[in-house]
Formats: sequence, C-alpha cells, structure tokens
Amino acid sequence: MDKTPWYMNAYFYQIYPRSFMDGNGDGYGDFVGITQKLDYLKSLGIDCIWIQPIYPSPMFDDGYDISDFVNVDPRFGTLEEYHQLIDAVHAHGMKIIMDLVMNHCSSEHPWFQAARKDRNSKYRDYFVWSDTDQKYLETRIIFTDTQKSNWAWDEVAGQYYWHRFYPQQPDLNFDNPEVQEAMLNVMRHWMDLGIDGFRADAVPYLFERDGMENENLPETHEFLKRCRKLMDEEYPGAVLLCEANMWPKEVRPYFADGDEFQLGFHFPLMPRIFMSLGKQNAESLVKILKDTPDIPENCQWCTFLRNHDELTLEMVTEEDRQWMWNFYAPDPEMRKNLGIRRRLWPLLDNDPKKVALAYSMMLTMPGSPVFYYGDEIGMGDDIRLYDRNGVRTLMQWDDTKNGGFSTADKTCMPVIDDPVYGYKQVNVASQEGDPNSHLNMIRSLMSTRKASDALCRGKLKWLVDGENIPVLAYIRESEYDKVWVLQNMTDNEQSFTLDLQEGTYYDLNHPEFEIQGSSKTEIKIAPRSFYWLRKKN
Ligand code: BGC
Repeated sequence: MDKTPWYMNAYFYQIYPRSFMDGNGDGYGDFVGITQKLDYLKSLGIDCIWIQPIYPSPMFDDGYDISDFVNVDPRFGTLEEYHQLIDAVHAHGMKIIMDLVMNHCSSEHPWFQAARKDRNSKYRDYFVWSDTDQKYLETRIIFTDTQKSNWAWDEVAGQYYWHRFYPQQPDLNFDNPEVQEAMLNVMRHWMDLGIDGFRADAVPYLFERDGMENENLPETHEFLKRCRKLMDEEYPGAVLLCEANMWPKEVRPYFADGDEFQLGFHFPLMPRIFMSLGKQNAESLVKILKDTPDIPENCQWCTFLRNHDELTLEMVTEEDRQWMWNFYAPDPEMRKNLGIRRRLWPLLDNDPKKVALAYSMMLTMPGSPVFYYGDEIGMGDDIRLYDRNGVRTLMQWDDTKNGGFSTADKTCMPVIDDPVYGYKQVNVASQEGDPNSHLNMIRSLMSTRKASDALCRGKLKWLVDGENIPVLAYIRESEYDKVWVLQNMTDNEQSFTLDLQEGTYYDLNHPEFEIQGSSKTEIKIAPRSFYWLRKKN
C-alpha cells in the first residue's frame, strides 16, 4: 500500500466564503452555498478545501480580525451548517482545513475590551502593552500603505499596544502561558468538529524580544512544535500549513525535523513565476529553487499562483520589485503595500497561452498546488474596490443575476460585469460544456499531472542553468515514471536539445505529438508553449 501522506501530493482550493456562493439568498456567501458547490470542486479534482476565516468578526480585515475564536459568524450560517459542510466535504472524499489566526484578534474581542478597561484584569496580559512607542523599533511594518508604527495608542487603557497588522488587530501576548493554552484549545475546538487541519496565519510574528526584528524567533518555533504535538497526539493525521512570507532558508525551520509544519507556502517562488513570464527568462525562478533547502521527507511545499492577498513582492530584490511594479502594475491603483492587487488573468493579459504556461510551471514543479477560487475560469479583478477586495469579488457561476452567486438584489460585493471579465462572458456554466474553455484547459492539465507519478512525486533534475533561460527545462523522475518538461518562456519559437534514449516520446497533454529520441533530439517549441514528454513503452 502507498504510504505517502495525502498532503504530499494534493490539490488545495482556496475558498473566500463571503464571495463563493450564497445559499440562503441574503446576498452574502455562506456554508449552505459552499455545500451546494462541492460537486463542482470534486469535478476539478480538488483534494482539500482551505476555507478562509469564518469566525465572528467586524470584518475589518475580512475575518482575519476575530472577535470569537470558537464560533462562526452568523453571516456564514450556523455552527450546525458548518458541521454539515464538513460532513458533506468528507462524503465527497475531500478534506477541509480552515484558517487559524493565532497572532492577533479583533480589538472588539472581549479579551481586548476587558484588557483595555482594567489594568488588573487577567486579560491585560493577553496583549503587549507599553508606555512608549519607541520599543521594538527594529521590527518592520507589514501594511506599509496605512501604518506608520506597530504601536497604537489606546485612550481607555492609557498605554500603547502592539499590532503587526491593522490597529484593529491587537497582537496576542504569547509569553503568557494562558494565551498559549487558549490557542491550543481553539485548535481542539475545531478539530473536534471534524476538520482536517489548519492553514496557520501569520505565524512568524508570535513573540517579541528587545533588539530583535521579531520574526521567526526560537520561542515561536517552540510554541508551534507544541501545536503540532497536540495535533499528532490528539488528532493523528491532521495537517498544519504554514503561512510564513519569508525566504526559503527562513521557512525551512518551520518544517523543523518534520515535527512542526507538514506544509509551507513557497512565497518567493510565486512572484518569480510572473517575473519569468514577464522577462521571458526563467533565471530568477531557477535560482530560487536551487537556493531552496531540502525539507524532511514527510513535509511538502505548497505552490500557488495567486491568493486573496496582493501579489506580494516582499521576497524579491528592490530592483526586481520596481521591475514587477512597472511591468505588472503600471497604474499606481494596482499597487498595494509591497505588492500588486490584481488577479491571475488580468496580470497575464487575459492570454490563455500565458496562463496555461503559468499553470504548467506550477503543476510540473515539486509541491502541492493551491488554487484560488475563480482563477480556473479566468475571473478578473476590480481595482476600484478598497484594499484587497478587488481580488475577492463574487464567484461567477452562470450568466444570470449576480453571476448566479445570489438571488438577492443587494450583494456583499459587486459582481464583475465589464465586457471582458464580466459574469456574462466568464462563468462556470458556459465553460463546463466547452472543451476549449479555460476551465477545461486547466482541469485537463490538473488531471494530467495527477496521472503522472513523476510529476506528483518525482525528483527534479535541472536541464538549464545560467543567466539566460528562455526555455525552462527539467526532468521529473520517480521510481516508475520519468517526464521531461520543456517550457518556452518567450514570444518566439525556441529550440531545445535533449539527450534521449532511442524510442518514441509523446506529450502528455497532446499524446498525438510524437518525437523520436536520440542523443541530440532537437525540439522546436512554439512561443509560450510547453511539452511534458514521456517515453512510449
Ligand atoms: C492573511 C491576510 C491578513 C493577515 C493578517 C495574512 O497573512 O493572508 O489576508 O490580512 O494575515 O491576519
């Protein structure tokens, strides 16, 4: 029997619950709506849903500002309906993980309200207070567009409190053992409801120490190992996915000896996929993967093209950041913090060839891919909307009112209805039956990868190096399977020479394409095209 854990080679699908599907007609996405769409997710080949925050929240940061860690926001439905969703996901043979936001809570959380009102309350020490805002000055600011300091003055408390994100999200004080216990109990609460694990939000920032940058501190790793121990002991098989927007060598310790996180996002890879496509040269991508340390055998990277946040440029050089902004975000409105608030298809000129190439890169590299809702049908963005809401618009199911998202007259977000990306042109229903649709193109690439042992779990061997890499080429090889991947990053035809054994080779995506192998097989690759080649038996 195959003993590989399921998450080593899984497709994750990220659901932003507010915008996915409204099941009760009130204009707000909910659990009942998501439950109705599980057949669709199954048909895409999804293994695990990642549902973004569903906790009660003032929604200042779209649910990442939690005012009750052990409940659901009534706008999404009841706890019972969430339970039914979890059961239905399992009945579909899929899994579900949810966001665990440990670093901070909402300033409306009763803990913070009690803390600010009374210095003697036990909750005072649940947060990080100071009489001066001149402490921890080495710590960078994350929301650079709106924040000048990580300290905010609280009139009622008569002190400053620490926050790495918005002031509406006070950081919890992990030096307080009660806070640690409370978080472990939050994990138990949701695991008991039947979920399969967590995407742990913003974990590098849990502790603060004088004179430090206050990211990735040893104390943080120590606590995270406790979280993992709890999961292993009380909920064997559950997974923890790490959100640490850091360089690979800084993320590496989050896998520890295989006893901290099983999964971690590969943040620096993502902008380099776009940089390679934009510069028509994959040098930066090859370099970052070559610089990525090995991880323990039971651990895996999560790869992704886009998510609910800005396309972060924190993990690129200053020069590359300027290049990316100039190329992909010429309008300053498209920029947000150190990133770009646009979706996949508009970034890539709505060009199916470029998008397919981006998917080819993600799907042929090691890692478990995470798909962002709506990208599979080519949804656009709305940069007029506040903050990152422009990439969180309503899922476009069909060409009826509100794109089939809701029967309500007023919805929580506007639906996109422009002539290019609008719901009348871009929606699931119209693409389902069309073999050439974006949806079926992506679905087909996804199923081809899943059918290849080498692409799922093979080792990667580079066929390219150096400064100019117009064709991104590598071999993926496992015990039973071997695939040669050739991807033309450029707008021109390229030729690439492979050293192959004699025999016939075919393209996994277009098996009618065949080529004869020799020690100098020259292959011509059309602009922005790719081959996933395998030898015929
Ligand atoms: C989430 C963001 C959120 C932040 C604060 C992140 O990393 O992805 O959407 O604003 O954490 O919770």
